[in-house]
Amino acid sequence: MLFIVGALSLFSVVFADTPANCTYEDIQGRWLFQIGDRGHDNTVNCDAVGKVETNVYLTLKFPDLATDDEGNEGFWTLIYNQGFEVRIKGRKYFAFSAYEKNGKNVTSHCGKTMPGWTHDVMDRNWACFQGQKVTPVPPKHHQMPEQHSVELLQQLKFRTNYDFIDQINKKQSLWKATAYRDMEDMTLEDLVRRAGGRKSKIIGIPKPAPVSEEVKRIADKLPEIFDWRTTGFVSPVRNQGGCGSCYAFSAMGMNEARWRLRTNNTEQPVFSPQDIVECSEYSQGCDGGFPYLIGGKYAEDFGIVDEKCNPYKGKDGKCSTDKSCPRQYSYNYQYIGGFYGGCNEELMKINLVKNGPLSVSFEVYNDFFHYKGGVYVHTGLQEKFNPFEITNHAVLLVGYGVDAATGVKFWTVKNSWGTQWGEDGYFRIRRGTDECSIESIAVQSFPLY
Ligand SMILES: *[C@@H]1O[C@H](CO)[C@@H](O)[C@H](O)[C@H]1NC(C)=O
Ligand SMILES: *[C@@H]1O[C@H](CO)[C@@H](O)[C@H](O)[C@H]1NC(C)=O
Ligand SMILES: *[C@@H]1O[C@H](CO)[C@@H](O)[C@H](O)[C@H]1NC(C)=O
Repeated sequence: MLFIVGALSLFSVVFADTPANCTYEDIQGRWLFQIGDRGHDNTVNCDAVGKVETNVYLTLKFPDLATDDEGNEGFWTLIYNQGFEVRIKGRKYFAFSAYEKNGKNVTSHCGKTMPGWTHDVMDRNWACFQGQKVTPVPPKHHQMPEQHSVELLQQLKFRTNYDFIDQINKKQSLWKATAYRDMEDMTLEDLVRRAGGRKSKIIGIPKPAPVSEEVKRIADKLPEIFDWRTTGFVSPVRNQGGCGSCYAFSAMGMNEARWRLRTNNTEQPVFSPQDIVECSEYSQGCDGGFPYLIGGKYAEDFGIVDEKCNPYKGKDGKCSTDKSCPRQYSYNYQYIGGFYGGCNEELMKINLVKNGPLSVSFEVYNDFFHYKGGVYVHTGLQEKFNPFEITNHAVLLVGYGVDAATGVKFWTVKNSWGTQWGEDGYFRIRRGTDECSIESIAVQSFPLY
């Protein structure tokens, strides 16, 4: 996907394969949104804004207060470090932050956005817009870490390193590592994609938010063990194959479970991740994406479809979803805690029990590929030749508990690597310590039924 920046911009940028590195400090402040013609539906092409028809000035205050010049109050959140969304006066605005990439050099222009999308809260009157901060933000430079080329990793078959598996099992006893035969059929690039994809990297994941007394009081009353599977509200485990579509499986899995909950299991849909991979402009196909923008924003703005309307192929392609299929919508998507950085263990427990499974993300290190069972904690071990780097992998939180033998608290999580992986396709991971950042960025939305 290529965004050509329109006449508004002072420089040209393309949406390349790394996210910008924009933080709350960069984005908060006063913005001018220049908005094009509002008479469109959700098929509007926002490669460029076109003729500006409306100027709106907005002030964004940390963590989530947006105000306009007429005194209206609204909401905003950062979306990972890639962009931000504002909801005010009956309209929503979302755009990725602008940046340039030159070889390994990345320059984030956090005081500008790419052309983005705006529409009213009823999903009508779509337009394109571009944001520019009133007080300029100095460009931020960083260098991409050394990455092995896609071409190289596509040529290299994965080979099981039995030494590495032994080391994992010797170093700790909380979880067991094993060799998986199906990994031997994959290239190293397939594995990078399986673990999240090159475009799912997040620089600077927030720490969990402090827990208020009120939240602690509510969380303390919850059961000690909880699992949505015991009541049949979780849809079957699937396999994403060698495509970085975990975010789509996580997002569809949340919608499937919450659909079951909403209908007391009288409807058990399986939604199409391929529709997301091929058709969503809010994500990057088999290279990655983020649950907030898919299970949430895409499902609200464009809707999702049944698996049979676009069966899973596990590769990129042109949007081939059956247009005659009805689309199902969700609403009220949000980061747990309300905004990016507002999440913590207690809020995750409360929302899990009250509303249903949550989309969560965590950092995948290469020991995780070999997980067979137990409570996962990153061992700190790395293979010598480690092409994986750390990727951000999206999965589905379905329960929590305490390990009887060790007393270690854990989350129960549905993966999308098939049923032969882990504990019948699930894994448990240590809870309460933000293990691999799993308590930092949970997301939920609600089916519009
Ligand atoms: C990247 O930045 C370095 C240091 O600032 C510079 O020497 C190099 O020429 C830049 N590379 C590209 C491709 O712009
Ligand atoms: C991203 O930006 C933050 C804040 O400006 C900075 O602390 C951090 O080092 C940056 N990360 C990279 C990889 O440049
Ligand atoms: C939900 O379904 C179960 C099992 O069929 C049934 O026992 C229960 O009464 C239903 N609950 C509601 C609120 O309809």
